[in-house]
Amino acid sequence: MIHIRAMTKQDVPAVSRLLDESWRRTYSPILGAETTTRLSDDKHAPERLAAELADDNKMSFVAERPDGSIAGYAMAKMDATGDVMLDRLHIDRSEFGTGLAADLLHAVLAAHAGIPSIALEVIEGNDRAIAFYGKHGFEVVERRSAAHGVGGHASLIMRRLLPRA
Ligand SMILES: CC(C)(COP(=O)(O)OP(=O)(O)OC[C@H]1O[C@@H](n2cnc3c(N)ncnc32)[C@H](O)[C@@H]1OP(=O)(O)O)[C@@H](O)C(=O)NCCC(=O)NCCS
Repeated sequence: MIHIRAMTKQDVPAVSRLLDESWRRTYSPILGAETTTRLSDDKHAPERLAAELADDNKMSFVAERPDGSIAGYAMAKMDATGDVMLDRLHIDRSEFGTGLAADLLHAVLAAHAGIPSIALEVIEGNDRAIAFYGKHGFEVVERRSAAHGVGGHASLIMRRLLPRA
């Protein structure tokens, strides 16, 4: 069985690899290989991921297989106003369609019990992710020029309300 737990420093190399593979597969067709590589090298560098673990406003989770390999990863961050963003959700290609992504999403939600809503930004064209989020109650609330140096591309802000009852 796959076990979802908080990410630790020991997971950094495997998560960095997972993110890099996932970004190249997902975003090269949308952003082009060069832009994708540049962004991924910067955002997913092991030092950067390790620093995020020390940031109290960020919570990172991994999905670990019985053999110790990493099958998925999620990271949520809280801004100064208390708004929570699901900043990253990536699973290994071999896990697509298994429900693992939903399990990671639920781990993030459980860790933030009581928040009124959760938001995310997804680059337009990432149709599988947009369909996944739509299936899980997220609605597009804004379309804007993508952040993170993704010049010229649009992204969607999606938000899921989390009513208490
Ligand atoms: C996004 C992600 C976590 C979703 O997990 P998943 O296991 O693939 O999601 P699911 O299979 O449960 O749901 C995807 C849905 O999109 C549908 N889908 C697949 N390709 C599609 C496409 N090109 N266009 C529209 N819908 C598509 C699937 O049929 C499925 O819907 P269904 O369950 O009704 O059949 C996973 O695909 C992933 O890690 N992707 C790469 C990283 C990424 O893009 N992360 C999000 C942005 S940071």
